[in-house]
Amino acid sequence: MISIKNLHKNFDSKVVLRGVDLDIYDGERLVVVGRSGCGKSVLLKHILNLMQPDEGYILVDNIAIKKVQQKDLFFLRKQFGFLFQGAALFDSMTVEENIALPLYEHTDMQSEQINAKVAEKLDMVGLPGIQKLKPAELSGGMKKRVGLARAIIMDPKYILYDEPTTGLDPIMAANIDKLIIELSNKLNVTSIVVTHDLQSVSKIADRVVMLHRGQIIFSGNVEDLKKSKNEVVYQFVHAEAEGPIQPKPRKY
Ligand SMILES: Nc1ncnc2c1ncn2[C@@H]1O[C@H](COP(=O)(O)OP(=O)(O)O)[C@@H](O)[C@H]1O
Ligand SMILES: [Mg+2]
Repeated sequence: MISIKNLHKNFDSKVVLRGVDLDIYDGERLVVVGRSGCGKSVLLKHILNLMQPDEGYILVDNIAIKKVQQKDLFFLRKQFGFLFQGAALFDSMTVEENIALPLYEHTDMQSEQINAKVAEKLDMVGLPGIQKLKPAELSGGMKKRVGLARAIIMDPKYILYDEPTTGLDPIMAANIDKLIIELSNKLNVTSIVVTHDLQSVSKIADRVVMLHRGQIIFSGNVEDLKKSKNEVVYQFVHAEAEGPIQPKPRKY
């Protein structure tokens, strides 16, 4: 379980997180929504210990991550797989090398074992046999899946997804959504998914939380989300623009 307690984060004078309190339960698929720039990625980075809070703390399985010593940091990181926006694969390396990287860096597994593990994860993301391809030979959706295979190579307990379907066409996006659900069931992991796609939310979420002005203003299931009378939640669900929309000037 992950417990986020009273998390505050500023960048210079800009307040991004203003006391986020959130518990994430084992095995759930939690979706985090909120306007662009509201701090969703910043929140994920805190969970991964890639950013440190100004105030507050995070417990992962009852361990306060900011107190973790350098030597234990890897043990903690190992429990997390993440798929970030623009899932950067190394262009000069094959799919296999990209996925296997953490195994070469952090385990003493032999290459035979590593190959077997890579093959297993590629099967899981529905891309068997593409080990020898280079990223340039893959479609956007395939790259995401390879990124996902890499995210699960260390058998994490938690998988964090930052806008996994952004930039994909609707069919690829639906495939990724399906995969998120499949993996969470098969691997029995806890999933934290940031998205602004309401269709994805409806499919994936056991629970949705909404981040607004640095705090969690909503937590509930999709039905509750759709019924919510909270103005900000309502605007998200009904995709209403804030303020008047300026018509685009015609170009002819
Ligand atoms: N490393 C950083 N340095 C300064 N400002 C940052 C940094 N990371 C994020 N921010 C700011 O924090 C705010 C929230 O960013 P982010 O979490 O990326 O938003 P989103 O909800 O779209 O993921 C934005 O205003 C962004 O400019
Ligand atoms: Mg973001």
